[in-house]
Amino acid sequence: MKFLTYIFLAIFGISCSSDKETYMPISSNPALEFTVPSNFPEPTYNMALNPPTEKGFELGKKLFYDGKLASDGVVSCGFCHIQDFAFTHHTHIVSHGVDGALGTRNAQPLHNLAFQKEFTWDGAAAHLDLQPVIPITAEVEMNETFSNIISKLQQDPSYVTLFSQAFKDQQINADNILKALSQFMIMMVSSNAKYDKIERNEGAVFTDSEARGFELFKTKCANCHQGTLFTDQSYRNNGLPIDPQYNDIGRKRVTGLDTDIYKFKVPNLRNIEVTFPYMHDGRFKTLPDVLDHYSDGMVNSETLDPFFKQGDTVIGIPMTDSEKEDIIAFLKTLTDDSFIADDRFSEF
Ligand code: HEC
Ligand code: HEC
Repeated sequence: MKFLTYIFLAIFGISCSSDKETYMPISSNPALEFTVPSNFPEPTYNMALNPPTEKGFELGKKLFYDGKLASDGVVSCGFCHIQDFAFTHHTHIVSHGVDGALGTRNAQPLHNLAFQKEFTWDGAAAHLDLQPVIPITAEVEMNETFSNIISKLQQDPSYVTLFSQAFKDQQINADNILKALSQFMIMMVSSNAKYDKIERNEGAVFTDSEARGFELFKTKCANCHQGTLFTDQSYRNNGLPIDPQYNDIGRKRVTGLDTDIYKFKVPNLRNIEVTFPYMHDGRFKTLPDVLDHYSDGMVNSETLDPFFKQGDTVIGIPMTDSEKEDIIAFLKTLTDDSFIADDRFSEF
């Protein structure tokens, strides 16, 4: 109920922004340019409704790294989304929230969010501005309410100043908190991996093993991990054995449809080298473990993706050990060191 109320507030806020006259001169809050990399599609995030600005970004970053958004004053967004690991939480299989409470899913990487249509492993959030409502209010994550957060922020003069500089209505409210977080997150574009430099003809070349891996990837993996974003943004069952501890039903949680049981968002594979452990529940520690799952570990079920069924008996993607090594060599060309080290997104 609490959750729905805030979603409503957020939607309401987004659709009717007020036009107070007291807005700071535009020169004190210049627009931030969002550059679409030449090998990327157009963004899905509607920037006209929330144009990123210098102050909005600065505010979003401050909120992202601030424990005030959690009931214990400690668990910030950045606690679970750590830049060194492309904004995942890699010492933990499933996420840890306030008081060490355990979630059931592995923290997702944060990059190229401006190009995504839906968010979380099951697509529960249909808009980036609404996504943070889930961790903020979830008991096992930040366990906080917006009214508490707002009163904490109102007592902090640096926030009063930043909100007044960043937003026309100058208000510290749920709508502006969410918009600022989005302004920070949409700027997190990872597009300078070796793979990109090859795709854009910027002089980089694949090694022999990477080149063989890329060819294999195109026939065995790109059906789902598609295009420059390395996801077709659909929900599918890739044959993971059901974990009785969580019995996570995946996309069915959102749609209620039996045909969606055990389907999860096809994850993008950028920076995959550093975002371990893998899968929605973090069950695989390494990339070789992932490839062994695709070749030999899959279980059949009603919703197993047809791509993995060849005839009545063979399920999975047959691969030799050397083919697996080549695919992994290719996957490592998706690591974007400049993104991981980019000061614009770091806490300090
Ligand atoms: C306790 C750990 C934890 C905290 C704190 C946390 N997250 Fe997350 N985040 C996760 C997990 C786990 C998921 C996957 C959730 C799921 O699938 O249900 C996730 C998913 C996301 C996604 C979706 C990414 C995608 O590709 O769909 C975004 C965006 C995000 N978090 C942003 C934030 C922001 C902003 C905050 C702070 C307000 C935050 N997170 C706080 C653990 C956390
Ligand atoms: C039929 C669609 C499909 C195909 C083909 C496919 N995958 Fe996946 N992949 C998925 C889905 C869905 C998930 C998420 C499953 C989950 O967590 O429950 C996933 C997860 C992954 C992950 C974990 C990502 C993370 O962030 O945790 C990796 C790595 C991966 N796949 C690599 C590959 C490779 C390499 C191939 C080819 C050998 C491949 N996939 C083929 C659908 C597919």
